Amino acid sequence: MDIENKKLHIEVTSRCTLKCAACPRTTWKEITKIPFPKQDLNIDDFVKFMDCEGGRKVELLQLCGDYGDCIYYPDLIEFIKTFRNKKFRLHTNGSHGSPKFWNDLCKVLTEDDEIVLAIDGLEDTNHLYRKNSNWKSIMQAVDILSKSSVKLAWQTIIFKFNENQLEQIQELAESKNIRWFSLKTHRYEDTNLIPTKESNIQTHYLFKPEYTNQETFEIEPKCYRIKTVGSDGIFYPCDWIRNPRTLYSSQLWKDRYWLDQLHIKNTNFDNANKIIKDWSEHVRSCGLKGNAEVLCKMKCRKEVSCHD
Ligand SMILES: C[S@@+](CC[C@H](N)C(=O)[O-])C[C@H]1O[C@@H](n2cnc3c(N)ncnc32)[C@H](O)[C@@H]1O
Ligand code: SF4
Ligand code: SF4
Repeated sequence: MDIENKKLHIEVTSRCTLKCAACPRTTWKEITKIPFPKQDLNIDDFVKFMDCEGGRKVELLQLCGDYGDCIYYPDLIEFIKTFRNKKFRLHTNGSHGSPKFWNDLCKVLTEDDEIVLAIDGLEDTNHLYRKNSNWKSIMQAVDILSKSSVKLAWQTIIFKFNENQLEQIQELAESKNIRWFSLKTHRYEDTNLIPTKESNIQTHYLFKPEYTNQETFEIEPKCYRIKTVGSDGIFYPCDWIRNPRTLYSSQLWKDRYWLDQLHIKNTNFDNANKIIKDWSEHVRSCGLKGNAEVLCKMKCRKEVSCHD
């Protein structure tokens, strides 16, 4: 089996209690002036979608997403129980969960599962990007999770407010026996968040004006790598394309041919992978004709080889 098909990225819900500046849910609201619709993945549809040879072979379900946070999915515990033959990796901001919620979650997770906590600062700074986060509730979650068997990781995105605080954040994470790592980004939305040191910025993905021209680009589609089931039930070629700044102007969205076929109600994991393969060939040929998506030029032009 294709090694890339062993993992599937899923957005189980579009719900979240936070308002991080560069999150697609926040930019969506900035652009449309209305909140992003509340959507929860339908478990029965997803069970049918995965009921095929490739679906059964998927080993890891990564509950991350683009518009929401899995801890606010009302069916989270049931979802995990339904797929207990697979491993889970959950990504969460860790805020506002009750002790009962975290204890119940620990009961269905094992040492083969992992929770990645997105904590970008300390008590005095985390909320500067993670708006509406609640430090006390995050630390309460950390303490409950640390006593369970589930693996934990603490992810810190580098911003201006924390670039000189990274060692202290790492110390705090490690004092709680949590593996710590930092991430550079190119998405800030707010210029006050941009680090002062260029080495702390992910420059290779930055937009360049020539991407909007009809210039030809050799594209090496990474559509095989982070295929994503959205909370809208659509199987997308990557999660990058789900950003409102790119999705609604993309051919994938405008030409319903692709998305209608890719709804999990209309296909299964095996067939959806074939459709994504056709889509990636389409992207490759668009690159050679000069009409590829701006996003595909940013993320998958030939010289971009990094895997983040
Ligand atoms: C939309 S979030 C969903 C998961 C969860 N709510 C969270 O924030 O971790 C998807 C991923 O994007 C990350 N993320 C959020 N803001 C980001 C930014 N400005 N640049 C890069 N990654 C970001 C999150 O930490 C998470 O790993
Ligand atoms: S916690 Fe995650 S889903 Fe929620 S607003 Fe922040 S980045 Fe978006
Ligand atoms: S950016 Fe375009 S080519 Fe790259 S993975 Fe996403 S859809 Fe595929």
